[in-house]
Amino acid sequence: MRAALQSQPDQAGRTQSPLTRLDLFPTPAFVFRWAETEPRKPQLVDAVRRHRAESPGVVKTNRRGWHSETDLPAWKEPGVAELVRWAARCVEEASLAMSDAGGDRPRGAWRVSAWANINPPGGHNISHTHAQRNWHWSACYYVDLPDIAREEIGGALVLEERGTGLRVRDNRPSSRESRYIPSEGELVVFPAWLYHRVEPHAGDSDRISIAFNFHHPDLEPSRLWEHRPRWWWRKFPGLLRRIAKLRGTQDWSAGAAPMGYDVMPAGPAGE
Ligand SMILES: [Fe+2]
Repeated sequence: MRAALQSQPDQAGRTQSPLTRLDLFPTPAFVFRWAETEPRKPQLVDAVRRHRAESPGVVKTNRRGWHSETDLPAWKEPGVAELVRWAARCVEEASLAMSDAGGDRPRGAWRVSAWANINPPGGHNISHTHAQRNWHWSACYYVDLPDIAREEIGGALVLEERGTGLRVRDNRPSSRESRYIPSEGELVVFPAWLYHRVEPHAGDSDRISIAFNFHHPDLEPSRLWEHRPRWWWRKFPGLLRRIAKLRGTQDWSAGAAPMGYDVMPAGPAGE
């Protein structure tokens, strides 16, 4: 954690005091493995392909890949609800693991947004975060990765630590990136504020994944604040919240849950 750097002479030739660098806070990410991976894979692949056939999807961070609407928690195909409830349990576990001194786990339902991705060979996702709408955790579940878990053909999830905002301009790869090569059946959970991207892959078939955002009111005090409500939301939050609820539109008041679906977690993570 502590590293003393060599003292260097300054421009006048004077030797300065040694610098002491403190690397204070690691960035948490968690990998869970679903025990139901094998029997659920064909169900999930069928579900994703059915929606792909019915919807052109949306373009967000996906390049050359298909990104479904964000209504996956409402999909009725077998296996989908089970995956979403298990993923909610995983982020509950991750939250508990982040709680110092044996704090409480979040209680009750999570607000969830989720969508499917199909990246054909060459498909990728550009760097982004999910922190814009009060999300706490983000996650990705890997459904079908034919031949993808080989380093040389790409398709890795690259997590990028930009929290310092400080990087000397040069052409070398950043030491603040971490490249994770996923396996089928894994759920990678990370803070919603963490930048990430998906590399293009050179596999011979599609890379299918399901991405999630999670919000829980118990975590709200810890959220990295990015959204400042417009003045009318700050002035009349109660009234506008009721109107938004009636119209089914986004509640933009401070600390509000983003649009999504309320999901009760399944049994213990990993089961
Ligand atoms: Fe993402």
